[in-house]
Amino acid sequence: MAVVNSLSGINIKSSQNRLLIKNGQVVNFDGIEEADVYIEDGIIKQVGRNLIIPGGTRTIDATRKLVMPGGIDPHTHFELEMMGAKTADDFYKGTRAAVAGGTTTVIDFVLPNKGQSLIEAYNNWREKADNKVCCDYGLHVGVTWWSPSVKKEMQQLVAEHGVNSFKVFMAYKDTWMLDDYELCQVFETCAELKALPQVHAENGHIIARNTEKLLAAGVTTPEGHELSRDEEVEAEAVNRACVIANQMNAPLYIVHMMSKSAVDALRNARLRQRRAIIGETLAATVGTDGMHYTNACFRHAAAHVLSPPLRPDPDTPEAIIKALAEDDLQLIGSDNCTFTEKDKEKGKDDFTKIPNGVNGVEDRMAILWQKAVNTGMMDPCRFVAVTSATAARVFNLWPAKGCVAVGSDADVVVWDPQLERTISAAAHHHATDFNIFEGTRVVGSPQYVIVNGRVCLDDGELRVAEGLGKFLPTPANCPYLYDGKPPLSPQGSPRYASESPQNSPARVTNGNTPTELHLVNKQLDGLSVSGCSTPTGRKMREPGQRNLQNSTFSISKEVEGLDTKTSVRVRNPPGGKSSGLW
Ligand code: URP
Ligand code: ZN
Ligand code: ZN
Repeated sequence: MAVVNSLSGINIKSSQNRLLIKNGQVVNFDGIEEADVYIEDGIIKQVGRNLIIPGGTRTIDATRKLVMPGGIDPHTHFELEMMGAKTADDFYKGTRAAVAGGTTTVIDFVLPNKGQSLIEAYNNWREKADNKVCCDYGLHVGVTWWSPSVKKEMQQLVAEHGVNSFKVFMAYKDTWMLDDYELCQVFETCAELKALPQVHAENGHIIARNTEKLLAAGVTTPEGHELSRDEEVEAEAVNRACVIANQMNAPLYIVHMMSKSAVDALRNARLRQRRAIIGETLAATVGTDGMHYTNACFRHAAAHVLSPPLRPDPDTPEAIIKALAEDDLQLIGSDNCTFTEKDKEKGKDDFTKIPNGVNGVEDRMAILWQKAVNTGMMDPCRFVAVTSATAARVFNLWPAKGCVAVGSDADVVVWDPQLERTISAAAHHHATDFNIFEGTRVVGSPQYVIVNGRVCLDDGELRVAEGLGKFLPTPANCPYLYDGKPPLSPQGSPRYASESPQNSPARVTNGNTPTELHLVNKQLDGLSVSGCSTPTGRKMREPGQRNLQNSTFSISKEVEGLDTKTSVRVRNPPGGKSSGLW
């Protein structure tokens, strides 16, 4: 594996700033087209066929491949100190793992200690990240305490520091949790600033009381983690957060939604809410489940501990994928928050001391492809919507990020739907030796990943550059949340059919009917779920239809749609050695 560790190690000749991706199928959230993509100086300059290209341009042949926007992971924790430990993935290793998996933008969380200046914490995060990131990144800021000075700093962060989203916690009782009155004030301030409040939705008081009872009864193992905070504890907080946001006339983004009950609460709220509500789920939720908490091996069980927890209900992953496919959930992040085995051992005799967090930034895209697209539950356009386009739109990065279009940043993934591998800690790029998706076979992975015009995964060879990424200011007053007008294409005019006025999320006032209010939420990402099918026009699986996950059906062949001979390209490990066709 070739890794260039500093910018000084890169020698970019002018022709290397030019790249042509030929013969691929370009997938955006609203459609698929056969087109070549020409990139120069980090920007997509042309998309189409028969392009006129300067001599000496490097060409990547994307025949039978999908050319998609680089993934945007809206939820990471690199170099975070929490629960007496520090996450293993720093901004270098974390973004390197992201790029290896096809993600080219991450949004991390600044989490100040109670009483700490938000600006000071923000500056600390910038110092940790700026010289290490291998791809572009943005920052959300946690509001972990409340005072008039916090309100002032929120204003400053929006006006001067490129922050448009603030996370509050309804759990973590003695560290980050706010009470409902404080939530009202944060949400109200966000509405004033035209920023987006984000919420960790779990009832911290119930968790605290249940935990006392479990420990008193002698339950100390990781199983106690889920027992102390079951689905109802999550769903109650989701509903309460939605009510508070509605009362304060603020939009809302609910992070890491982990259960069917929570999604039910969200669905109901989206029917009645004045403003947009966005629900995020995680790769962990679709790729594994809470049965691991009963594993007799502490190391194994503790490695799966995160909050809210994975759910033991075996129907959860499929229900969450269905919700993502049908726009009851809007996007998927990773909540990448990796801790070493040694740190997880802090909770050997008391589950409440296990640092909360799992991996996911590297495998998020492949896991979702395998579980959702290969099973026929989601088409490639919706895959793009939930892995990049919707995050770009919600955090006001569109159309620079989240689409393959003229004028957009050249963050592009050439996705090989036939690339087969088995996820393993032995091959991943995280700074930990455990992977919650260990042993999962995936068919479909990135072959090339282009970050700001630079080929950083080159036919399976990872060639990231530390410090190559830059901080992305996220402006407030996002049209998708506040104006009711969809963002424009890079050319300055609506590019997509779905951006016609009747498909735009209209501004909603108190006088609107419930149906109109529902439409705001349904149309948030501007795409009807049936707006796109596979390149061969295959219809998506209807509810109740056969689950193709365990059958011989392969989306790879569907996408290829060209010949019927079995041709599976095997690469294992990702970013490592590459074998030929067989
Ligand atoms: O368990 C988790 N989710 N760890 C990271 C902190 C958070 O609440 O997102
Ligand atoms: Zn959280
Ligand atoms: Zn998190």
